[in-house]
Amino acid sequence: MSTDLPTAYEAEFSGRTAFVTGGASGIGLALSRRLAAGGAAVVIADHNEESARKAADELTSAGARAAAVALDVTDPVSVEAGVRFAVDTFGALHLAVNNAGIGGPSQPTGAYGVEDWNKVVATNLSGVFYSMRYELPAILEAGGGAVVNMSSILGTNGFAGSPAYVAAKHGVVGLTKTAALEYADRGIRINAVGPGFIDTPLLRDTDSVARDHLISLHPAGRLGTSEEVAELTAFLLSERASFIHGSYHLVDGGYSAS
Ligand SMILES: NC(=O)c1ccc[n+]([C@@H]2O[C@H](COP(=O)([O-])OP(=O)(O)OC[C@H]3O[C@@H](n4cnc5c(N)ncnc54)[C@H](O)[C@@H]3O)[C@@H](O)[C@H]2O)c1
Repeated sequence: MSTDLPTAYEAEFSGRTAFVTGGASGIGLALSRRLAAGGAAVVIADHNEESARKAADELTSAGARAAAVALDVTDPVSVEAGVRFAVDTFGALHLAVNNAGIGGPSQPTGAYGVEDWNKVVATNLSGVFYSMRYELPAILEAGGGAVVNMSSILGTNGFAGSPAYVAAKHGVVGLTKTAALEYADRGIRINAVGPGFIDTPLLRDTDSVARDHLISLHPAGRLGTSEEVAELTAFLLSERASFIHGSYHLVDGGYSAS
């Protein structure tokens, strides 16, 4: 596949199958492209079926092996079927990125809608558990591999107006550490990534004042790109990260350093 990536990394995922939830947009789409460029067969698992199919078509047209599956990470039955689809389609599962997520409304904790809370936690935290619940046995069956769970800078910092998102992303870090302890000596490395604010469709409802405020939180003076998050995630999935287990890695333009 033709990309601008360094040639040394071109075959680093060949023979591996990767499952990317939320792979049809933003960070997940950049990551799906990055993994395909590295030779992986990529399953784009997303509840936006049309976008998932379009993304998979883009990758297959560029010569990669890719497939789309419609899935809702808040529904364990749907997640189990999605993981089974990946194994049935490409023969085994080695790599998984649990990235599907939503933002939720901005309201203080004392006014936050109970339904909104349940939806954000179901997607951003339970969705990661359901995904690992079915991915990990499949990865063990394949002889081992690696998982990255998409947390956020808000997996370690608070953020006024986002109680559900912050609680869920902190939860993802704890869940990642625990699963990593359970599988470290069984051939599966499990880590979490904490992006700062990244210029993706997730920020589509942010007006220019709020956007400028978000930019001001990053000493780098800008929002991050999906490709910058994809690069760290790809590293953690690769053999180059062979001694990295159960840790939480920031890609945040310096947000957390201040
Ligand atoms: N954009 C940011 O500033 C930022 C910062 C830190 C962390 N993150 C995290 O990165 C991840 C990706 O976010 P993004 O910015 O690329 O967002 P995005 O909106 O561009 O993409 C999210 C994808 O997840 C899918 N999705 C949402 N709910 C789903 C569900 N229930 N089941 C299956 N798929 C579902 C959407 O269809 C979409 O394709 C999220 O977990 C998000 O919380 C984003």
